Amino acid sequence: MYLDNAATSFPKPDTVHEAVLHAMRTVGASPGRGGYRQSLEAGRILFQAREAVAGLFSIPDSSRVIFTQNATGALNLALQGTLVAGDHVITTSMEHNSLLRPLYALQNNGIELSIVPAGSDGVVSVEAIHHALQVNTRMIAVNHVSNVCGAIQPIQELAEICRRCGALFLVDAAQSAGYLPINVEKYAIDLLAVPGHKGLLGPGGTGLLYVAPHVQLKPVVYGGTGTHSTAEEQPQVMPDGFEAGTHNLPGIAGLLAGIAFIGDVGISVIHQHERALLSLVEQALREISGVTIYGPENPSDRCSVLSFTASGVDSVLLATELDYGFDIAVRAGLHCAPLAHRTLGTLPGGTVRISPGWFTTREEIAFFSNAVVQCIGKIRKASE
Ligand code: ALA
Repeated sequence: MYLDNAATSFPKPDTVHEAVLHAMRTVGASPGRGGYRQSLEAGRILFQAREAVAGLFSIPDSSRVIFTQNATGALNLALQGTLVAGDHVITTSMEHNSLLRPLYALQNNGIELSIVPAGSDGVVSVEAIHHALQVNTRMIAVNHVSNVCGAIQPIQELAEICRRCGALFLVDAAQSAGYLPINVEKYAIDLLAVPGHKGLLGPGGTGLLYVAPHVQLKPVVYGGTGTHSTAEEQPQVMPDGFEAGTHNLPGIAGLLAGIAFIGDVGISVIHQHERALLSLVEQALREISGVTIYGPENPSDRCSVLSFTASGVDSVLLATELDYGFDIAVRAGLHCAPLAHRTLGTLPGGTVRISPGWFTTREEIAFFSNAVVQCIGKIRKASE
């Protein structure tokens, strides 16, 4: 039983499998790399996928959507493509290494970094971010939803700070895209990094970056674009100039089908389903002595994931017992977000994280709840 949709979603809708196979078996060609019909068909799929992304996030012009390999690729492009020496960036202690590591690396290139600690519930205070502003603040970069505890950050208020001080607003939507509505214009998001393979239900190896029209982006990968072939410099044309090399067309075709599936079901229905399942998990966990659930007290301030520890029980061992004893896949440990665990007080062992998806059923959650009671009991008994 798969309960690690925060790492990548599984299973995918059948329509996603079919779209991948169609792109591989029938289309076959590379978009923008030929004038023959197969390449034109590939180009159509690429365009339709860009339009679908634009529709999902209320992006007026789909040429501002750049396909990447994953959200990490999108975050690297957003940071390396905009920041220059002397710029100051504000981020939070709840970030994933996909944002933190490129920022740490950029410090060696003269970028100043402030990491604002979130509260012990994982929510960052708008006042604390405001307090960290400097005259050279060029960007505020935050995740929308914590991959560790599901805390939803106040992105509308943070966008307002950016608007007032002229900083860029970069949002990492790794755990919110496909679960919460995101409107880049309404939320004044300048850069939105999204994985294609999590909430959007596309295949692995897909992701995207939205870049607002006023943002000047530098390419970070150089190579063939199928256009401007005599130019020695990288064409800075959106989006081709930022997608050098052959596209992952099967992946993007699958992503298009994933977004269509989400559109048919509806984000609010998906969100309600996931909230209902997490609430069942929470009820069951609260009946086990010594269990602590992390993140905001109010479940409506959390999304996608639920993290917990059980006193006297090693989190990784518990996840291993769930896997080998009950065939249940959950992620345990630090979830690539060490500062988030320091904030939540869960270093060094981390937490057990459960993240159901659209295809998870109530029966599976009941099975998980029973299994977790048994595994905790077994581990505690063994250590007596
Ligand atoms: N960022 C993904 C996770 O939290 C991989 O599991």
